[in-house]
Amino acid sequence: MPENPTGPAAPQDRTPQTTGSSAGAATAPTGAQPTDTQPTGADMSSNGAPADAGSQGASILLREITKTYPGQKKPAVGGLTMEIPAGSTVMLVGPSGCGKTTTLKMINRLIEPTDGSIILGDEDITTMDADKLRRRIGYVIQAGGLFPHMTVAANIGIVPKMLGWDKQRIADRVDELLDLVSLDPGTYRGRYPKELSGGQQQRIGVARALAADPPVLLMDEPFGAVDPITRQRLQDELISIQAELKKTIVCVTHDFDEAVKLGDWIAIFAEGGRLVQYDSPEQILKHPANDFVENFIGSGAGLKQLTLSRVADAEVREALTSPVDAGPAAALEALRTAQAAGTAPAGTEDSIVVLDSRQRPVHWFSARQLERLSAFPDRPDEDLPVVGERASLNDALDTMLVSSTSNAIVTGGRDRFLGVIGVETVMDAITSARSAGAEQAPPSPLGENTGPVEVTSP
Ligand SMILES: Nc1ncnc2c1ncn2[C@@H]1O[C@H](COP(=O)(O)OP(=O)(O)OP(=O)(O)O)[C@@H](O)[C@H]1O
Ligand SMILES: [Mg+2]
Repeated sequence: MPENPTGPAAPQDRTPQTTGSSAGAATAPTGAQPTDTQPTGADMSSNGAPADAGSQGASILLREITKTYPGQKKPAVGGLTMEIPAGSTVMLVGPSGCGKTTTLKMINRLIEPTDGSIILGDEDITTMDADKLRRRIGYVIQAGGLFPHMTVAANIGIVPKMLGWDKQRIADRVDELLDLVSLDPGTYRGRYPKELSGGQQQRIGVARALAADPPVLLMDEPFGAVDPITRQRLQDELISIQAELKKTIVCVTHDFDEAVKLGDWIAIFAEGGRLVQYDSPEQILKHPANDFVENFIGSGAGLKQLTLSRVADAEVREALTSPVDAGPAAALEALRTAQAAGTAPAGTEDSIVVLDSRQRPVHWFSARQLERLSAFPDRPDEDLPVVGERASLNDALDTMLVSSTSNAIVTGGRDRFLGVIGVETVMDAITSARSAGAEQAPPSPLGENTGPVEVTSP
């Protein structure tokens, strides 16, 4: 993983922002134990990248923000103070109507706070021009929120166009982003949203939000409208994009499992934007702050911890591969040669993965299937059992179950082939993850409600 020069809060490092103060009672940091992976201390102050540095994430500080909608007595969000470390992914969860969307939209001022201030990097953005601000903050909503009368390219290029980029630069950027979200630019740039699947629309929504390379990405239930398998793939993709780009991501979800999977930190809200617990997924699962959190997590907290174990942490084995351009005869010969020499990897010794020119898996055939082929099918096999290396072991198991195979192909950044993982490996890894000892927890970021917040027991 590349270094993050702007701050230590790389997404997978679960690096906290040291608060230097004890947060509110409900959200007290679970302790100041040193972490085994990251230093803690003064280098983690709120010094995210300057907002215009592009690319890498900037820290966000919500300082006692309150939103009271006109005609309402109680605030939708009351006196919320919350630190979002640069380059981290923070998931906002809680029951319907608790103020998640309100909180998110106050960050890019689609909703103006009634009170309080918001600091992005080093800059107070509470009063800055909202249009300018929104160009520095990508925003992804459910079903992509694409303009139906505009092509994919035009949708993605909206903000760069507003920023006055020249045509070539916009076109290059569009192709680069399509590539990043695993859609072939030649195939998709000219399509209209209605010619895309739900998952593809969502990918375009993410690409559009990233177009002007903003340091911050806000997402409101981005994967709520797609089927479970597509959702899993989109989640994996987001994790892999985030590993590359290290944005600061604030994401609302209804799905606690999604929060566990994607979040470096999870903020659990109760009504009125009351922050009940703000901590790492591990800590919330192991030490829910109270009954409200426990109920919210639901049953099977132990099982949910398995969502934290990644494919990359398990053994990924080699498999035979052959370039798609070489055709089936060459693939079959490579397979037979390896079998004769005894070098075909155990577990997948009777199959070969076919890769495109960019090392992405497109087919997976047995010797028997290859014998019957005179040419590879033009289209990549959409049903290949593929999991990203950052996918959870649970996801890997699901993928194998859905496609009834005992192996899945593992891919890394930009869908490049890494190897295969077998069902036994997954089962073993799940068993050992279950019995693994508790790791030392990093301190959680600052998060509390002060001021006009109603403290009622949820
Ligand atoms: N424009 C508005 N005018 C008045 N009240 C509003 C407005 N928008 C939201 N609210 C109220 O503010 C509270 C918080 O709403 P918000 O949309 O932030 O909730 P949420 O946590 O995102 O819920 P959901 O999970 O259902 O999306 C709710 O009680 C809602 O009814
Ligand atoms: Mg909402």
